Amino acid sequence: MPPALPPVLDRLDADLDAALARLFALMRIASISTDGAYRADCDAAADWLVRDLASIGVRAEKRATPGHPMVVGHIDGPKGAPHVLFYGHYDVQPVDPLDLWARDPFDPVIEDTPAGKVIRGRGASDDKGQLMTFVEACRAWIAVHGQLPLRVSFLFEGEEESGSPSLVPFLTENADDLRADLALICDTGLFDADTPAITTRLRGLLGEEITLTGPDRDLHSGSYGGAAINPIRVLARIIAGLHDDKGRVTVPGFYDGVTEVAPEIAAQWDGLGFDADRFLGAVGLSHPAGEAGRSVLEAIWARPTCEVNGIQGGYTGAGFKTVLPSKAHAKISFRLVGTQDPQKIRAAFRAQVRAALPPDCRVEFHDHGAAPAAQMATDHPAFEAARQALGAEWPRPAAFVGAGGSIPIAGYFKDILGMDSMLIGFANADDQIHSPNEKYNLSSFQRGIRSWARVLAAISG
Ligand code: BES
Ligand code: ZN
Repeated sequence: MPPALPPVLDRLDADLDAALARLFALMRIASISTDGAYRADCDAAADWLVRDLASIGVRAEKRATPGHPMVVGHIDGPKGAPHVLFYGHYDVQPVDPLDLWARDPFDPVIEDTPAGKVIRGRGASDDKGQLMTFVEACRAWIAVHGQLPLRVSFLFEGEEESGSPSLVPFLTENADDLRADLALICDTGLFDADTPAITTRLRGLLGEEITLTGPDRDLHSGSYGGAAINPIRVLARIIAGLHDDKGRVTVPGFYDGVTEVAPEIAAQWDGLGFDADRFLGAVGLSHPAGEAGRSVLEAIWARPTCEVNGIQGGYTGAGFKTVLPSKAHAKISFRLVGTQDPQKIRAAFRAQVRAALPPDCRVEFHDHGAAPAAQMATDHPAFEAARQALGAEWPRPAAFVGAGGSIPIAGYFKDILGMDSMLIGFANADDQIHSPNEKYNLSSFQRGIRSWARVLAAISG
């Protein structure tokens, strides 16, 4: 262990209660990016971060975008030391259905659970708790040594959960200000509660919303049923046709750019001892429901999918109403891997929907963003240094893993800034991110802070 590290670890342990108080202050801000009603809260979360970074000596500022602001900060390190850019996102997912929360999502608490203490509240894990692990590690380094072991820039985004619409123009316009030797991203998980992970691949994402219109108004389903086209029936048929009976997506050209997992990666994944029954059992399931012939791990880390995220139409209120609706809506997302081209798939999907429309039924499409899949350069020397640093903190050695989720910026850092990313995060599979009662294990927070303190030392040279 480098001699500079032990006093930093002592310092951050001693400061844990204050660190929690800071995290709670950030979590009390309802920064839901996808809903315009929370615009001022997103702004307030950005302001809070600027102030907190400034309090440890970071030159930080809020930068406006057409959407929610970015927070950018810089702090120097020793002369000649490497330069890293740290990324996290301060926005959170909506909280509905609110009635499934045991308490106010924006009134965080520490709860005792059979599995240990947890931080409960929206954003605890995704991503406020995670981004603060890095900030707290920096705070402890600076408190003990007066400076960080390397030069650090910060980028906090406020639109990650809503498709990052401002990100590409912002990165393009601010390329020189943001480019570093390596990006560090804290928005992913552990492999399991004892096993830290470096995520080496992320799936991409394509979001589409479709609205089908049949008759020009809602109709009495007795007076018109049988005579008038029902857009919900059309929608159901279109959705049912998106997969074949082997679970493969039917959109023409969908699998272009999808490659098989290389044998050495497959062997490494096999060695992780992933327990698919436990993974499914934890959410009340017993049978994998994806593509035939693919393991669960392969399905979530290395295969593309199409999911229906929401469907709406007709009467869904209390009681019953015999209506033949005018409109039907669906929100549909595709997770992408390899070099699948989101725009080509969007076009092919739209053509497939249009081709399936009967007379008197029309469709409108709404684009909810797209980002290709990303693979990290695991041969970058920082990966091995970080792997060892993580292994020193956690009960088990660090694993190189994939992730089913998407973090669009990882690919853009490479494509726009020419910068590699290293993804390290401390979330657990049962954190209920995007769901009611989100939590972050207190051990994730504390060990996460300690992990970053170690990783900073390890990659500083
Ligand atoms: N932190 C998640 C991504 C994630 C989830 C990584 C699980 C690893 C495991 C991130 O905040 C997220 O949810 N992203 C969205 C992106 C989308 C809205 C563009 C996602 O994956 O759905
Ligand atoms: Zn996230």
